[in-house]
Amino acid sequence: MSTARDVQTDTAELIARRYGAPLEGAPAEGTPVVDLQLRHRSVRRYLPGEVSDAQLELLIAAAQSGSQSSNLQVWSVVAVRDQDRKDRISTAIGGRRYVEECEVFLVWVVDFHRATQVVERTGTAVETNAYLENTLVGFVDSGISAQNALLAAESLGLGGVFVGSVRNNPLAVAEELGLPEYAFPAFGLAIGHPDPAEEADTKPRLPQRAVLHHEQYDDAAWESGAEEYEERLREYYARYGKPDYSWARTLGGRVGPAEGLHGRQQMREWLSSKGLLSG
Ligand SMILES: Cc1cc2nc3c(=O)[nH]c(=O)nc-3n(C[C@H](O)[C@H](O)[C@H](O)COP(=O)(O)O)c2cc1C
Repeated sequence: MSTARDVQTDTAELIARRYGAPLEGAPAEGTPVVDLQLRHRSVRRYLPGEVSDAQLELLIAAAQSGSQSSNLQVWSVVAVRDQDRKDRISTAIGGRRYVEECEVFLVWVVDFHRATQVVERTGTAVETNAYLENTLVGFVDSGISAQNALLAAESLGLGGVFVGSVRNNPLAVAEELGLPEYAFPAFGLAIGHPDPAEEADTKPRLPQRAVLHHEQYDDAAWESGAEEYEERLREYYARYGKPDYSWARTLGGRVGPAEGLHGRQQMREWLSSKGLLSG
């Protein structure tokens, strides 16, 4: 049995792995939940093995237990187990092996269809689907709930990866899933049994001084942290045969030229075509 002291030591070690370097100062005292969070890594390679309906129910119960903006509950999940459907989705979004090989592919859907129906049945006209605010709420709450589901999966010894690539071709995915008006695929979550042979580990994050500000945003605070992070992430990727990896360069590929959005520049039009942001 582990003692409080062991737990403390483990947590300090997990935190050091999370940052790619030991923390300065006293180690934090962890909890089983935080330790699980610290152990997270995306899992893209799976061993065969069932994810049962009972496990799926548990994941969704965890997801639904997350906070909900105004308790609107404006998201849904489509669970895809059918191999042909997973393959078609993979093809539609540019070919993603982890979509094809996972046990269950959960597509998180921003869902104002249900809310619209419920409200219209009360005789109230729905005017807000046209506004960015509601779409933001749908995406924010989808993210919160899906992270709960992933953590629940990890607590069961399963693993998974978010799949934002669903937004490479969201209308094709919406059609494949039979999504109605006002329902839009936000991202996927591929779930399965982790293959321990996958070449991946705890991926270091920015040092806290680069992300945590006290009282007011401190523009000078992140500079040295971002520099240190380049080194930590280079070390991480060097372990997997990529010694020239650069975080700044990767960031630049995504937030630099508009082409880095890989066609998602059309997101406004895509959302509008499903009745969101249509005003
Ligand atoms: C909303 C979201 C979308 C993501 N989409 C993808 C994706 O399409 N493909 C992929 O391989 N990883 C995807 N990821 C996983 C990230 O690449 C991963 O979380 C990040 O590199 C950090 O690695 P870690 O999760 O192993 O710590 C996504 C993560 C999030 C939160």
